[in-house]
Amino acid sequence: MEDKKQPQGDLLLRTQTMPADTNPNGDIFGGWVMSQMDIAGSILAKEATCGRVVTIAVEGMKFIEPIQVGDIFCCYGYVEKIGNTSITVKLEVWVKPILNACGVARYQVTEARFVYVAIDENHKKRQIPKK
Ligand SMILES: CC(C)(COP(=O)(O)OP(=O)(O)OC[C@H]1O[C@@H](n2cnc3c(N)ncnc32)[C@H](O)[C@@H]1OP(=O)(O)O)[C@@H](O)C(=O)NCCC(=O)NCCS
Repeated sequence: MEDKKQPQGDLLLRTQTMPADTNPNGDIFGGWVMSQMDIAGSILAKEATCGRVVTIAVEGMKFIEPIQVGDIFCCYGYVEKIGNTSITVKLEVWVKPILNACGVARYQVTEARFVYVAIDENHKKRQIPKK
């Protein structure tokens, strides 16, 4: 696999894919991938909004390549837009195969925009503080 570019943004989450995360084809299940991206994006969103957030939308999700068991799963991201109560985080997932693949470059497998809304303790949307 050719390393076409570099990941955009900070490394938000890094883990190893496990057999329990597979779909019936034996590849990593897309729902698991989305949940990891949601966790990664929410970390950034909480830091940027100084409090709780909930996911309101996922935009432009694209699964580019399958992910194999044992791959090192890395989610990178950056804040793309901050509104009054919402924040948009652009996320990319890159993997690095390590099983029987010493020296293989990392490559991108997925990308999407996750939109979060800042909420208060009563689950009502709140204004995102200006920094
Ligand atoms: C998040 C929630 C509190 C927002 O309530 P609301 O008062 O109806 O929100 P609004 O429609 O006014 O939208 C709030 C913000 O989200 C944005 N937004 C709403 N729908 C959107 C969509 N489909 N895509 C992108 N942004 C959207 C709005 O533009 C607004 O942003 P801004 O304040 O920066 O301009 C409510 O929808 C909710 O609780 N949803 C469930 C969240 C959840 O359980 N997520 C899954 C588990 S984390």
